[in-house]
Amino acid sequence: MKKDKIIDKIQKLKKNRNAVILAHNYQIGEVQDVADFVGDSLELSQKAAKIASDVIVFCGVHFMAETAAILSPDKTVLIPDNNAGCPMADMITASELKEWKKNYPGRKVVCYINTSAEVKAECDICCTSSNALKMVEFLGYEEILFVPDKNLAAYVARNTKIRITAWDGYCYVHDKILVKDIKEKQRLYPEAEVWVHPECRPEVIDLADKVLSTGKMIREANETRIKDIIIGTETGIIYRLKKENPEKNFYPAKDLALCSDMKKINLKNVLHSLEEMIFKVEIPYDVSQRARGAIEKMIRV
Ligand code: 13P
Ligand code: SF4
Repeated sequence: MKKDKIIDKIQKLKKNRNAVILAHNYQIGEVQDVADFVGDSLELSQKAAKIASDVIVFCGVHFMAETAAILSPDKTVLIPDNNAGCPMADMITASELKEWKKNYPGRKVVCYINTSAEVKAECDICCTSSNALKMVEFLGYEEILFVPDKNLAAYVARNTKIRITAWDGYCYVHDKILVKDIKEKQRLYPEAEVWVHPECRPEVIDLADKVLSTGKMIREANETRIKDIIIGTETGIIYRLKKENPEKNFYPAKDLALCSDMKKINLKNVLHSLEEMIFKVEIPYDVSQRARGAIEKMIRV
């Protein structure tokens, strides 16, 4: 089927089903274009909490769709590919977290939104890359536990007096961006600023002019007068950056910084998802209720 026809069918089915399509900034361009809203993890969870439609088609990875399902329990949340996961989220299970917590009696746990619902259910508050520092400080404790991203934890630790003990997880996409990649791009584009995601390694963060979530990169790109920017995150974001700022130049810090799970969603499976009402994201009631506490606390702060 031709692309235009698929898009047309998606638009019609969306109306018939009273559905909205949410997409993460790393989605491929044509999926971003068909979406009603494109954003970062925090923006998408805030949006999911407010949506009035019956169905949400979530174009992103599984933990993001789970978050939408937790915040909108009366809605049908669909993910077009049930295998679109997040390898970093899979680096900690609820039973591993329960065991780990035993070593630190009384310590509060901040969990990155990149975790399963079961892991969130064991945590005190959730955070995203755009509000991690605020959430860590909000709890008001001198020492906290942080799961699963050691790089995000290290970035927060630079900016707070709170002592953070982090789980040994990381994002393979951001971890692949190395100092030599940034230096090479700086050599090619000496006028450019360097913006990186806080999931990057500490030594890469040292070289950055700005450390930003994907949503903050989009906003900053719209506001800055700088014309050349080296982008240290998953390269899918460059599509939206260029679309909204055609007069500026965005250079990926590493061309191969690609999240293969984010790329599992495409126009065909979005259409299939709406046609067949698959794949439904369902979470056991008890887990969902406990995870909701941690997510809603974050949204309220
Ligand atoms: P953002 O919340 O910055 O969009 O990040 C999500 C993510 O998965 C980064 O790898
Ligand atoms: Fe997970 Fe990294 Fe992919 Fe984000 S980019 S979804 S953290 S694997």
